[in-house]
Amino acid sequence: MAGLNCGVTRALLGVLLLGAARLPRGAEASEIALPPGSGITVLIKPGTPTLPVKPCYIIFSKKPTTMLFIKSGERKAFSFSCQNPENHFIVEIQKNIDCMSGPCPFGEVHLQPPASMLPTLNRTFTWDVQAHKSIGLELQFSTPRLRQIGPGDSCPDGVTHSISGRIDATAVRIGTFCSNGTVSRIKMQGGVQMALHLPWFHNRNISGFSIANRSSIKRLCIIESVFEGEGSATLMSANYPDGFPEDELMTWQFVIPAHLRASVSFLHFNVSNCEKKEERVEYYIPGSTTNPEVFRLADKQPGNMAGSFNLSLQGCDQDAQNPGILRLKFQVLVQHPQNESNVTYVVDLSNERAMSLTIEPRPIKLSRKFVPGCFVCLESRICSTNLTLTHGSKHKITFLCNDLTRLWMNAEKTISCMDHRYCHRKSYFLQVPRDILQLPVQLHDFSWKLLVPKDRLSLALVPAQKLQQHTQERICNTSFSYLVASTGPGQDLYFGSFCSGGSIEKIQVKQNMSVTLRTFAPSFQQEVSRQGLTVSFTPYFKEEGVFTVTPDTKSKVYLRTPNWERGLPSLSSVSWNISVPHDQVACLTFTKEQTGLVCQTGRAFMIVQEQRTRAEEIFSLEEVLPKPGFRHHSFWVNISNCSPLSGKQLDLLFQVSLTPRTVDLTIVLIAVVGGGALLLFALGLVICLVKKNRKKKINKGPAVGIYNGNINTQMPMQPKKLQKVRKDSESHVYAVIDDTMVYGHLLQDSNGSFVQPETDTYRPFQGPTGDCPPSPPPTCSRAPTAKLTTEEPSPGCSPESESEPYTFSHPKMENGSNENTDIPLLDAPKPAEPGE
Ligand SMILES: *[C@@H]1O[C@H](CO)[C@@H](O)[C@H](O)[C@H]1NC(C)=O
Ligand SMILES: *[C@@H]1O[C@H](CO)[C@@H](O)[C@H](O)[C@H]1NC(C)=O
Ligand SMILES: *[C@@H]1O[C@H](CO)[C@@H](O)[C@H](O)[C@H]1NC(C)=O
Ligand SMILES: *[C@@H]1O[C@H](CO)[C@@H](O)[C@H](O)[C@H]1NC(C)=O
Ligand SMILES: *[C@@H]1O[C@H](CO)[C@@H](O)[C@H](O)[C@H]1NC(C)=O
Ligand SMILES: *[C@@H]1O[C@H](CO)[C@@H](O)[C@H](O)[C@H]1NC(C)=O
Ligand SMILES: *[C@@H]1O[C@H](CO)[C@@H](O)[C@H](O)[C@H]1NC(C)=O
Ligand SMILES: *[C@@H]1O[C@H](CO)[C@@H](O)[C@H](O)[C@H]1NC(C)=O
Ligand SMILES: *[C@@H]1O[C@H](CO)[C@@H](O)[C@H](O)[C@H]1NC(C)=O
Ligand SMILES: *[C@@H]1O[C@H](CO)[C@@H](O)[C@H](O)[C@H]1NC(C)=O
Ligand SMILES: *[C@@H]1O[C@H](CO)[C@@H](O)[C@H](O)[C@H]1NC(C)=O
Ligand SMILES: *[C@@H]1O[C@H](CO)[C@@H](O)[C@H](O)[C@H]1NC(C)=O
Repeated sequence: MAGLNCGVTRALLGVLLLGAARLPRGAEASEIALPPGSGITVLIKPGTPTLPVKPCYIIFSKKPTTMLFIKSGERKAFSFSCQNPENHFIVEIQKNIDCMSGPCPFGEVHLQPPASMLPTLNRTFTWDVQAHKSIGLELQFSTPRLRQIGPGDSCPDGVTHSISGRIDATAVRIGTFCSNGTVSRIKMQGGVQMALHLPWFHNRNISGFSIANRSSIKRLCIIESVFEGEGSATLMSANYPDGFPEDELMTWQFVIPAHLRASVSFLHFNVSNCEKKEERVEYYIPGSTTNPEVFRLADKQPGNMAGSFNLSLQGCDQDAQNPGILRLKFQVLVQHPQNESNVTYVVDLSNERAMSLTIEPRPIKLSRKFVPGCFVCLESRICSTNLTLTHGSKHKITFLCNDLTRLWMNAEKTISCMDHRYCHRKSYFLQVPRDILQLPVQLHDFSWKLLVPKDRLSLALVPAQKLQQHTQERICNTSFSYLVASTGPGQDLYFGSFCSGGSIEKIQVKQNMSVTLRTFAPSFQQEVSRQGLTVSFTPYFKEEGVFTVTPDTKSKVYLRTPNWERGLPSLSSVSWNISVPHDQVACLTFTKEQTGLVCQTGRAFMIVQEQRTRAEEIFSLEEVLPKPGFRHHSFWVNISNCSPLSGKQLDLLFQVSLTPRTVDLTIVLIAVVGGGALLLFALGLVICLVKKNRKKKINKGPAVGIYNGNINTQMPMQPKKLQKVRKDSESHVYAVIDDTMVYGHLLQDSNGSFVQPETDTYRPFQGPTGDCPPSPPPTCSRAPTAKLTTEEPSPGCSPESESEPYTFSHPKMENGSNENTDIPLLDAPKPAEPGE
């Protein structure tokens, strides 16, 4: 029945007090009466005087004494022998609250006896609540809330709260607190002791807290801190600076407005020697998908957390011989968001269709190093590490991240044409929307998926600025590239990585494709104006891809076959339309002498065709590749693959460079004058005759170029040209000899009828032809072009190679060293991609 009737008790005390002196100071008499069964005891005893003072006594029953103890149910009157007993004595009021043997008197806790009844001494009220081990007890503090202080610290107003608990029979200090802080609730289990120290001059007459029972908290204690605005709190592990109890768990909860950001820093800690388990802290962080986030005490702790979070300290089973000590003192700093986290960005995707933007963490190598939280928040409310914004609405986002370079964005947009009649010749401009570019996060990929109906339409990409293909020989060092791939039903075909500043004017792709703008450096923001591609739906064609290349005179153009390093897919064909201006000659060079290709079925060919005359040269790609050669007019390069043996794939890199066409007549004249003219002329005649003969001999079958039945090597937009050209003109030269019967079986045309094979084995020229690489007859008459080379030392296209007979040497076996030095395409152009 302890303390069950507070009102009655107080009334009684009031009556008792009526006759007592109002201010029991000094020699004035005081009387304390404690109701029976209240569980209260009062002890007046000497304090720890700060100044040396004259002795002073308690006068009780007319006898001097230094201590006075009053039990519940007792009444004692006393006085002091001196004028300032507060300098000598203190009073301790203890109240036991027994929740074991009966109902617990929960609710607001009163000061009993009331302050007015006690002598003006330093007072310590202690409430000792005994409860079952499984019962949770919660101390709730009214404002002002509590602030934890370290050992040796004192509170400005002298009012302190000391809270402790018990583990079995051992007392555990939870902490000492002043009355000006953030701690609003302390949850304990199995009993709690709360001591309120009021200095004699303090006229506080309320305890300022209440007790409630809770279900088990399954740990030593939970300390809740509430922040209403910016501020900080320093908190300590139980028993600090002594060791945290072995294998215990303690939690701090922080209630923080969502618009503020909290950061944790460990001011001081020590870890013990663990035998089992690991000492650690665990966080529940808003928006984190990996809660609980576990850290070692030595790790850097999280910062910039939005809103409420909690933190737990978990001890371990210590080594009995050498336990060491686990202790922790930390600070939580709550601030307004700094930097970007304050800014709201609007991403308006309401007018977009089939588009999404994902803001996500960059992949990082997992390490034990601490990584603070980094979130994207929608409407400043829903925060997550990985946010996807979809089309059709306007999104307001904020960032909650210590370092925005830890995030990147990936976007995808689908442009599809399902009805070829509707979208034929339609075009779209592919550009990253402004709203995305203004975000403070690096755009990683922006992918356009371009879909067309099967076998109906193809696609053409025209860049705002001509593109360069990324090759090892000429790497893309720009801040962004376009990755172009066609996405077929069976397999994707990666055309390569292209950056601005090259010679590629147009890329045409047979079927569904993806174009990905990938950025490599933050300087993308400055170069962003150079992005932009126009895609149009064009009539269907059968080649995998066609590149339109207009080289400029300043630099070499390097071109790679698609699917570099994985090989051009079987039985596929790609073309390059390479322009040569009037006043220039182009030198076509292959970087390797051999492709390393071995066909299983079909044949792999390269056809070089001059556009003006349509003269063709056909080279087998299983043999050695042609030597560098000059082209005086725009030409096509077409590469068709066979079905190669696995591992013997087709990867071909070639180079086109321009040099001015300067026919130096004076040199020719000098030669004539010098008497070599006749010889030259004769030679020229011989060559031409040889060539004519050869032509006649070769040119007997219908045009081919297609040795793989399902490939159409016709140049786009040049319908039927091959057949026509071959029949009507003798203008093409084949450096090929017929071996008809050997490969005839491979040359069935689509109707199933046999096409008489032109040839396939590629035999070197055999005569002393001091000619350019195979070129059509008209150029033959232009014998002096041979002179060109002497004046234009074009690297790769050496004069020697020009004047040499067109023969092929066998490749030096370099043990594939060329291949091995190739670095993967996508790794090369990453000048500054942080976080990778
Ligand atoms: C009373 O408390 C104050 C501050 O809390 C302290 O300085 C003083 O020494 C105490 N008095 C005694 C007698 O202990
Ligand atoms: C209470 O807290 C405020 C703000 O933190 C501080 O300015 C003030 O000095 C504190 N007062 C006491 C008595 O601790
Ligand atoms: C505490 O003191 C205030 C005035 O200082 C008074 O209004 C209030 O009623 C007192 N409370 C108790 C419980 O005595
Ligand atoms: C509070 O205590 C009462 C009686 O001791 C008990 O019946 C009740 O379940 C407790 N409530 C909680 C939340 O533990
Ligand atoms: C506690 O840790 C501190 C560093 O935080 C270290 O300097 C000190 O020696 C450690 N003390 C013990 C007893 O381990
Ligand atoms: C910590 O926070 C998480 C999420 O807010 C909550 O589920 C969990 O119960 C909390 N733990 C404690 C001990 O407060
Ligand atoms: C953040 O926002 C608050 C309130 O909206 C403002 O007072 C503060 O100046 C802002 N800070 C920055 C860095 O923009
Ligand atoms: C982010 O979410 C998207 C879509 O749910 C998912 O594809 C992507 O892998 C996620 N990224 C990370 C880093 O989890
Ligand atoms: C902004 O954030 C960076 C880290 O991303 C930090 O170094 C800098 O101090 C912050 N600036 C302010 C004003 O908070
Ligand atoms: C392209 O994609 C569309 C839609 O997914 C599909 O219907 C069509 O068949 C695809 N075309 C090819 C050639 O795979
Ligand atoms: C990129 O490379 C070209 C030559 O290939 C050079 O002229 C240019 O300065 C380089 N740009 C950067 C940013 O390194
Ligand atoms: C080849 O390229 C040139 C120059 O860009 C262009 O004029 C011509 O139309 C192209 N030919 C074809 C068939 O696309």
